[in-house]
Amino acid sequence: MKNAHEKVEKNVGLFFLFTVFAISIGGLVEITPLFFQKELAQPVDNLKPYTALQMEGRDVYIREGCHVCHSQMIRPFRAETERYGHYSVAGEHVWEHPFLWGSKRTGPDLARVGGRYSDDWHLAHLLDPRSVVPESNMPAFKWLAENTLDGELTRKKLETFNWLTRNRSHKDEDGNRIKLYSDETLAAAKDAVKGKTEMDALIAYLQSLGHALK
Ligand code: HEC
Repeated sequence: MKNAHEKVEKNVGLFFLFTVFAISIGGLVEITPLFFQKELAQPVDNLKPYTALQMEGRDVYIREGCHVCHSQMIRPFRAETERYGHYSVAGEHVWEHPFLWGSKRTGPDLARVGGRYSDDWHLAHLLDPRSVVPESNMPAFKWLAENTLDGELTRKKLETFNWLTRNRSHKDEDGNRIKLYSDETLAAAKDAVKGKTEMDALIAYLQSLGHALK
């Protein structure tokens, strides 16, 4: 056995195999327990589904790439919680598809931006960030105020979320899953957004962020 280590080091295939083996153990130890921790798939008590308008705003947020400069994930460190509020928990995000946690912060985290500013502030900021934050290097999004929503796809989006969250929604007293969106909400979805601008929708979405844990 004297030269066993040398053998492994000199044989690329063998070395690769052992490396994969070692890393897999680390991965499995970290990942496997997550599949069995129930609270990770449970919505926190106050979690509310996005309204039709907020849902449209979320799609604008994705389309415009806001998530490329803004995270929505407060890490459990003092420097973060003092600035942004309580750290993010899994139960706040169980209905998100796709997750908008992000990994890059050119601008501040937005996980709890809801209610921090007025609607008028957001409007001014999105039309011309420098008008409210002189040193800002965030781009302006003027066209959002001119684009009007027709609501043609809104109902379909909500239905899709009903399906995506079918195993993770709230439960009624008998323990049965309740759909995120009732038939009445679905029927009213189009009219709820029709004629509003993309700006209205985006601001409604931003104002909805981060209230579930308060
Ligand atoms: C190129 C990077 C970039 C992009 C893209 C971007 N932002 Fe920003 N954002 C910033 C920076 C930098 C700041 C900090 C300065 C400021 O407040 O304007 C900021 C600040 C903000 C703030 C204020 C946050 C706070 O807590 O003070 C909000 C809200 C915001 N952005 C929303 C958006 C939205 C919505 C979009 C997409 C339509 C977007 N941002 C796209 C860089 C960006």
